[in-house]
Amino acid sequence: MLNNDPLWYKDAVFYEIPVKAFADSNGDGIGDVQGLIGKLEYLKWLGVDCLWLLPFYPSPMRDDGYDVSDFYNVAEHFGTKEDMRKLLDEAHSLGIRVIVDLVLNHTSDQHAWFQESRRSPESPMHHYYVWSDTDRKYEKARIIFIDTEKSNWTWDPEAKAFYWHRFFSHQPDLNYDNPAVREAMLHVMSFWLDQGLDGFRCDAVPYLLEREGTICENLPETHDYLKEIRRRIDEAYQGRILLAEANQWPTDVRPYFGDGDEFHMAFHFPLMPRLYMGLRSELCDPIIDMFTHTPDIPDNCQWCLFLRNHDELTLEMCSGEERDYMYYTYARDPKMRRNIGIARRLAPLLDNDRRKIELLNSMVFTMPGSPIIYYGDEIGMGDDIRLKDRDGVRTPMQWTMGQNAGFSACDPAQLYLPVVSDSVYGCQSINVKSQREMPHSLLQWMKRMIEVRKRFPAFGRGSISFLRPTNGKVLAYVRRHEDTALLIVHNLAASAQSVELDLKEFAGVRPIELLGEARFASITGSPYVLTLAPYGYYWLNLTPDRSGPESYGIEQTAL
Ligand code: BGC
Repeated sequence: MLNNDPLWYKDAVFYEIPVKAFADSNGDGIGDVQGLIGKLEYLKWLGVDCLWLLPFYPSPMRDDGYDVSDFYNVAEHFGTKEDMRKLLDEAHSLGIRVIVDLVLNHTSDQHAWFQESRRSPESPMHHYYVWSDTDRKYEKARIIFIDTEKSNWTWDPEAKAFYWHRFFSHQPDLNYDNPAVREAMLHVMSFWLDQGLDGFRCDAVPYLLEREGTICENLPETHDYLKEIRRRIDEAYQGRILLAEANQWPTDVRPYFGDGDEFHMAFHFPLMPRLYMGLRSELCDPIIDMFTHTPDIPDNCQWCLFLRNHDELTLEMCSGEERDYMYYTYARDPKMRRNIGIARRLAPLLDNDRRKIELLNSMVFTMPGSPIIYYGDEIGMGDDIRLKDRDGVRTPMQWTMGQNAGFSACDPAQLYLPVVSDSVYGCQSINVKSQREMPHSLLQWMKRMIEVRKRFPAFGRGSISFLRPTNGKVLAYVRRHEDTALLIVHNLAASAQSVELDLKEFAGVRPIELLGEARFASITGSPYVLTLAPYGYYWLNLTPDRSGPESYGIEQTAL
């Protein structure tokens, strides 16, 4: 059963799934909704609260389904609307919610709306898209897919006009100045919410409208429409959420939360590369600095924190210098780069070093926000940088060491993409089944972290304050909520470190380490000394103990 707290998303652990890549039930080489239904038990076991499904709508699949040709259906190779309803029923009965991608900004050029629109300027649907007889409008708008696109305008020989597109040229932008488009997309949302979906990850929201002389991002008119969406949802549905994909600086993302009346959640894009930078430079400054740039958000809102997703690890929110540093340290081979970013998975980015993987995950599990796990990263899946576009991080999920990694019973030649097969990341080494059987696997560790996180609402709802020890390789912060205080300490260095923390205000408290439940030495008025193994971390409960004398701990062993 679903927990009915209207703020459920503040404590939830999210998990991102491309249906295509997860599990193939009918042996055609492509993952499908029935396959996913068969894996819900796994997601429940792992402790996931909410799935985010990538677009599953009919599509020519030239942008992995972000080129939608019919918003009201399920692509044939993924299943049927009936399958979707079954997925929702089964997920809900396990207490798992499901949100899906809603591609508001554009459609495929194969969508019936575009086909009708391009037919003639007199067509009733002509103004569903943004047409112009010149390609010199909105010149301040940047090009996002710099690997493939030269302009945001493309000439359409049928309409004898240019159409506007912020992404691929086969994805014309919808015209949100047209009330009919605004209404049409609201209708799409209601349709899916009526099927029982728990909300939407709204794709590419900064770009909905265009205005001459601006960069055509984050416009007030865009916010007006997004608020209208929220109003409509709140009027008719309960407990549903809107998650914004706005790859922007935090001060520009802040308006997407409005006064708690626009998005419930938004990804924190700029924090993500800074976690990698902090790790590689062994300095906590880039991370703390990002929080000083992160404004407060309304109480009913939440950040969504992530390490990787289905796109390139975007460096759009980095300075030129930071970008160079990231490319130099994480993507020296140009084959690893896509657009402005790095198309690699978490484990290969971190040299498959379990300590670093735990460390970065520990950060996103303990910083203010709700964490989202990209499918396969919980077992440390690898990537295939030889594949085109972002396909290298979209390969089949590795379930077993059997044929096609247990993803599909098809002939391997029929798979939508090959399974990663190198000796380090191939399914002989990396798969769910073995890791479920190994008590100390990465997967078991992830499960444990999720379990512990869920015991403390402070992780999802608490404030954060950074301690500033002289040792700048150690990142330490306190999360506080009601009478709970949790101290989180991370060693970003490849060498053991010692740190002195000013914890005077907690004098008298004996911290309890949350993962092993061991008691640490009492805090006094003097600096509190901790030593950390290379890439080590602690989650310590500093809440004053009311449970009486401790029955175990380091002082007793010393007696
Ligand atoms: C999605 C990408 C997609 C683009 C265009 C992005 O925000 O995450 O995968 O290519 O939107 O729809």
